[in-house]
Amino acid sequence: MDLDLLLSANPEYQIELFDRQLSLFHKKDKHHVFVDFNSKQLKFRSQAHLNAELIIKAVLGKKKQTTSIMDCTAGFGKDSYLMSLTGSKIIAYENNPLMYALLKDGLNRAEIDNISLRKIDALREVKITNCEVIYIDPMYPATKKSAKNNKQMMFLQAFVGHQSEMAEELFIQAKQSAAKKIVIKRPVKAAFVLDKKPTSQIIGKAARFDVYAL
Ligand SMILES: C[S@@+](CC[C@H](N)C(=O)[O-])C[C@H]1O[C@@H](n2cnc3c(N)ncnc32)[C@H](O)[C@@H]1O
Repeated sequence: MDLDLLLSANPEYQIELFDRQLSLFHKKDKHHVFVDFNSKQLKFRSQAHLNAELIIKAVLGKKKQTTSIMDCTAGFGKDSYLMSLTGSKIIAYENNPLMYALLKDGLNRAEIDNISLRKIDALREVKITNCEVIYIDPMYPATKKSAKNNKQMMFLQAFVGHQSEMAEELFIQAKQSAAKKIVIKRPVKAAFVLDKKPTSQIIGKAARFDVYAL
């Protein structure tokens, strides 16, 4: 996928530097989308509340031991960032060139050293990963309301779109890896990926995490 092609397919956005941050500017709504690991929301989630985060419970389990995690779907890097705060080593994959550029810029500014970002399709490496945990957060259809209220969601819908089969393909390959578990983020009421019942689940209000012990 080519960066110029992506931008020309979405003429309502332009790429620019905003406050020294690489960002996408929505010309009509006049908002910037960029990666900010110092945002109030992430600070709140990461400081006092990290162990209460459902993703941390799902990935680290009861023992809460640090681990190595392959994040197959890095996106804006929020999940990678929260997982990195546990001291775990994160290898994050993002195959959308625009998403990758924004995330790389955010990581460089934040100087986080236990997230290593790769600009390739996670499908190419999931089966051979050395990581103990494989994490998958596929795109799923947003409701009209959530897309309207969430600028990052609007951006993802415009530039990434829905990838319903991606989760299935990643899951099939992940099951053949030497990892200890797979964690898949799903909408609360969504069906299991490939109808496969998880070993355990962490269920929240907006999302749930299906955990598959391998
Ligand atoms: C729902 S978003 C992930 C959001 C992310 N968990 C976060 O915290 O910001 C899904 C992202 O995964 C990326 N993606 C989907 N399939 C991928 C694959 N096979 N390899 C690498 N990246 C992928 C998409 O481009 C998109 O940016």
